[in-house]
Order: sequence, then structure tokens, then C-alpha cells
Amino acid sequence: MHTLTRRDFVTSTMAGGVVLTGVSLGAAGARGSRLADSRIDVLLDESIGTIAPEIYGHFVEHLGGVVYDGIWVGESSSIPNIGGIRRAIVEALRPIRPSVIRWPGGCFADSYDWRDGIGPRERRPRRTNFWIDQRALRELGNVPAKYDTNHFGTNEFVRFCRLVDAQPYLAVNLRSLPARAFFEWLEYCNSPAGSTTLAEQREAGGEREPFGVKYWGIGNESWGCGGNFTPEEYAAEYRRFATWAVPDYGVDLSFIGSGPSGRDLEWTRRFFRALNERRDLNRMWGWGLHHYTSAPNGEAIAFDDTAWYDLLSSANRMDSLITAQWQVMGEMDREHRIKLVVDEWGAWHRMTTNVDPTHLFGQQSTIRDALVAGLTLDTFNRHADKVAMANIAQLVNCIQSLFLADEDRFLLTPTYHVFAVYTAHQGARSVRTVMSAPTVHWRDGEERDQSLWGLNGSASVRDDALTLTVTNSHLTEPRETEITVRGAPVGAIMATTLTARNVHDHNTFEEPDTVVPTTADVRGGRSPFVYRFPAASVTKLEIALRR
Ligand code: AHR
Repeated sequence: MHTLTRRDFVTSTMAGGVVLTGVSLGAAGARGSRLADSRIDVLLDESIGTIAPEIYGHFVEHLGGVVYDGIWVGESSSIPNIGGIRRAIVEALRPIRPSVIRWPGGCFADSYDWRDGIGPRERRPRRTNFWIDQRALRELGNVPAKYDTNHFGTNEFVRFCRLVDAQPYLAVNLRSLPARAFFEWLEYCNSPAGSTTLAEQREAGGEREPFGVKYWGIGNESWGCGGNFTPEEYAAEYRRFATWAVPDYGVDLSFIGSGPSGRDLEWTRRFFRALNERRDLNRMWGWGLHHYTSAPNGEAIAFDDTAWYDLLSSANRMDSLITAQWQVMGEMDREHRIKLVVDEWGAWHRMTTNVDPTHLFGQQSTIRDALVAGLTLDTFNRHADKVAMANIAQLVNCIQSLFLADEDRFLLTPTYHVFAVYTAHQGARSVRTVMSAPTVHWRDGEERDQSLWGLNGSASVRDDALTLTVTNSHLTEPRETEITVRGAPVGAIMATTLTARNVHDHNTFEEPDTVVPTTADVRGGRSPFVYRFPAASVTKLEIALRR
């Protein structure tokens, strides 16, 4: 494979241009196919399903700088805040409609006692954080990130959710607390005002009305940090927590089982079989799936061409993970009542670019991460009939964050911009889209031939608006693409593009707008039309339908 110099990259990207407006037809003037090397067919009449807004969900764990610093700055902080919650994060989240936020972990959840996080803040106990023994923290001495003040508890989390109009998704401690603690947390959150002592405690914390929490995760990674169970052992625990008399207080409770890591089909098969022995599958709404993406050299910014493609290819596995898990789930759940909940996903790099040393698993984000986000969200959209929720890990200062925050400094990452660009898909009807483009070939770190789809994407329709999102993973080649919309005439077209002059560019506190999307009108009015997707880019085409 030709290795790019920085100069090569800049030259080829810029030569590709951002938008080829209008129709770039061949000399014959008809249909544009002579210039195009790729095709996209959008089939408006072939519905896949409604894209659950919850696919665009988030994840917040008490880990490093996520909660303390990232979200919670405290009411007396000089950092602008709304009742202790960083104002900048609230304002940035609102327009992207975060839909659902999972909390308080992750692995942390299975060590967390929710009772520590209620009542007057100054009286809440300080506890050792689950992550205290991570090497990166151990090397720093006795830093606050090793402990939890519990200043951000259930009331604060629910308030945060309300501020950004998201639903709370609570992960229950199954490893180190009995089921009774879960029932009491449920009672604290959802029992009617004045009905129980716990409802009164909620009210004393400033919240008279019930929270109406619908989503409850029954443990986390129960095959690992959440108890190291076998599938059969976990099924027995699941029964204890989630079957029989769990009061619903009028809420349509949706329990989420702790599913596999990536491709572990046996975890799914054996758990479903074991739960089904006593016909308890009807007590599960969603099945969790975790898939983190990484590339061999592990660097967030200092990656080479191989690591570019390796990372995108690892992200692209999401498609086959979903279909493989879905098939196994169907062996027991023949009507596919239980949906997939990909409640942890994202690109996880080495911790060499975190903005503060105590931000465990903190990392910078480039256009490569933006492509991971675009690829993955498109995959979820295409599987709208199977995926009911997904939560990128994690919201701020950790793994593939949308934000980096350090005291009064705050920035939006390229991943944030992808979520902003893709907001239009939420709640829309996913329609089948056929893409064909030259396959991308490269040799991986072990000199094996590898390949990746040239273009990846999804399309959705709401009323008379079609949204088509596309990632072009090729580092240097733009894709000249003939796009055909089948089922309705096409009107005006608007393009939003996220790319970078250099693939290693990233947003910093000093230069926060290095990687940001641009928007332009495209001459519309006919189908097919030809559009050039720049190399290494994420694009949204908003296409008016005339019908
Ligand atoms: O997101 C970080 C950690 O990764 C989570 O706590 C855990 O569930 C996963 O292994």
C-alpha cells in the first residue's frame, strides 16, 4: 500500500473538493454513470423499521473525569453551571437530542450503592471508586479521582437527564448488592409522591414527583467485572432480580440483560436457554451488547495508514455482530420480541492524549473517530428492526467522547459533530439502501490482505424529507457516486460534510473549530444525480421529496 505523506493527503483531499454541486453527467449527458465509480440506490418503498431515537443514546460512568469535572462541577463553582451541572454540556447536548443516558456504569455500577448518593450532599459518604487500582491512576498518588464524593447521585443524574430531555437508564448493582437494594432503588425513583418512606426521601431531596424510570440494566458485563458468572449462573441471578413481583408503579419497565462482549455467541445462547427453562424471556426487553473498536498501535492521533483502516474495519464488525447475535437470540425468542441494546460502543485508544492525567481512559478524537461514529450509527440505522437502543462510551473525557472538559475549558469533538449531523435520523423510517463502490484494500500490521466496503451509509425518511448519510473510508480517494432515489421525485438537496485537512487534526481548547462540519446547497431536482464524497469524510445529504 502506498503510504501517504501529510502533503499527499492534503493535496488529494483538497483536489477532491467538498461538494460537486448539481449533476456531473458524462459527455452523453444522460444519467451521469460515465463519471461515477460508485452507486447508491435508495429504495423509499422498502422500509426496515423506525429508527429508535434511543439508538442515539449516551453513557456516563463514575470513572476518571466523566462525572466529576466533566458533568458535575458543583453549585459553588466559578464554572458556569445549572445547579452544579456544567452549563456548557447541557447547552451542547440539547440540540442533538440525546434521547437516553445510561448511568452510573459500566463496571462501577456493580460496586455502587445508590443509597450513598441521596440526601443532603454534605452528609453523603465518600467511597473508594471501583477504578482506583488502574495503573494510570495508581501512578498519580492519592488523587480525588480515586474516590467518590457521591455529590452526583440519583437526583442529580435525573435532573441532568431532564435538563437535556433524555430518559434515564439505570444500571443495577447485581454483583455486590442483593435484589432488595434494586427494588428499593426502583421504589425511590418511581413510587408515587408521599406513598412510601423512600418517596418522601426523594421529596426531601427536592423531587416530589416520581422519576418514572423505565430502563433498568440488570447488571453489567456479568461475564466479567459484573460477577464473573457463567451464563447459567447469571440467568439464576437475573431471575432473582427481574422476575415475579417487581412493582411497576405504572411505568412500562424495560429490563436489559447483560449481554456478550462482541462475538461471544455462547454467552447469548446459553443464557437465553437457561432463562427460557422457566419461561422467563418475557421479563427481558433488551439484550446488551458491548463492542469496543481499536487498532494495533492504539494511538488516538499518531496513527498510520494501516491503523486508519484497521480501526474502521474493527468498527465495521458491528454489522456482523448484530446479525450473528440476532440469529442466536432467535433460536429461543422466535418472534424476536427482545431487541438488541448496544449499551457500550466506541473507539478505545491508548491513554496518551487525555487532557488531564486523572481523566482515566481520556483520549483525543480525530476524523478517524468521526468515521467510526458515522459507520456505527449507519449500521444501527440499517438494523432499525433489531437495535432498540445504543449508548456510545462515554459522554465526556473518556473513550470516544463527544466532549472534552477540563475545569473551565470545554470543547466539542468530531464525534459530537457526527451526532449533530445524524440527529435527523432519530425517529425516522429507515429505508433500504444499496451501495456499491470500489472495495478498499490494505495490508494489516501482520502483512495480511484486508478489505473494507468503499462506502457505508444509511437512509431514512420522515414526511417529505430523505436523509442519506454516507462515510467514505478511503484515505485519499473521493468517490464519485451516482445516487438514485426510487419511489419519489427529488427536490432541493443540502449537503453537510465533516472532513479534515489532515486526518490527524483534532479540536483543542485553543483551537476548538479545527474539525467542524460545513454545509452547502447542492443543485437538486433530479434523480439520478452524481455527488462526490470527499476522501475520509462523513456526509449527510438532506433531500426533499416531491410527492
Ligand atoms: O467504558 C469503560 C468500561 O468498559 C466499562 O465500565 C465496562 O463495562 C467496559 O468494560
